Amino acid sequence: MSTREIKTCTFSYTFRLSEGASKPPQAGDVLDFDMEGVWREMEKLVKENLVRDIGVCNFTITKLNKLLGFAELIPSVCQMEMHPGWRNDQMLELCKKNGIHVTAYSPLGSQEGGKDLIHDQTVDRIAKKLNKTPGQVLVKWGLQRGTSVIPKSLNPDRIKENIKVFDWVIPEQDLQALSSISDQKRVMDGEDIFVNKTQGPFRSVADLWDHED
Ligand SMILES: NC(=O)c1ccc[n+]([C@@H]2O[C@H](COP(=O)([O-])OP(=O)(O)OC[C@H]3O[C@@H](n4cnc5c(N)ncnc54)[C@H](OP(=O)(O)O)[C@@H]3O)[C@@H](O)[C@H]2O)c1
Repeated sequence: MSTREIKTCTFSYTFRLSEGASKPPQAGDVLDFDMEGVWREMEKLVKENLVRDIGVCNFTITKLNKLLGFAELIPSVCQMEMHPGWRNDQMLELCKKNGIHVTAYSPLGSQEGGKDLIHDQTVDRIAKKLNKTPGQVLVKWGLQRGTSVIPKSLNPDRIKENIKVFDWVIPEQDLQALSSISDQKRVMDGEDIFVNKTQGPFRSVADLWDHED
């Protein structure tokens, strides 16, 4: 693939791990991250016409505000976990306020070990009422909130199913019900990969997400 074919370039976590770092990282494995320096380099890619858009992923409000404080080019897109079990409302609002498009990853609640929204009572009730599948309702919920969604399936029938979401709408009251599911919790909280309870620097999931959840 030539660089001309790259349309969007995003950076994901705002720290870097040393070569050969253990999982979870031990003290010294997590290295300083120059957010401004990285963003400046990404801005250059746009200015030099090498990519069309640049964006960020897995940011917090703290990190996005920091970036907006120095960015010459505002991120085009911010990708984050988002589904009725983790609405991420405040990040969505901040992105909308700044004209940043949101891409919702794990829009179905992710895979095994994730949040089983496919069998959630509210999702199921609304799917039956609208004569749609739970997967379609979850995809449509994301679209009606103004985000793009990237559901993943290895099953050809479900891939086809997940895309049939453009000629109907979830009525407002059902949208509200889906947006009122309690027990809000990230699935992709990074605990397994980044949190080390005794040797930091991220000693808890809260540390990783700037204590915003
Ligand atoms: N940037 C990041 O940090 C980040 C983090 C996580 C994920 N992502 C991206 O987000 C995308 C999706 O995330 P994800 O895979 O975690 O979760 P997801 O799309 O929410 O869920 C995928 C799971 O749902 C099942 N599924 C798909 N369509 C279905 C349907 N209509 N009915 C019932 N089950 C259905 C899939 O099984 P089958 O395959 O059997 O259909 C799979 O087990 C991926 O492309 C991933 O790369 C990005």
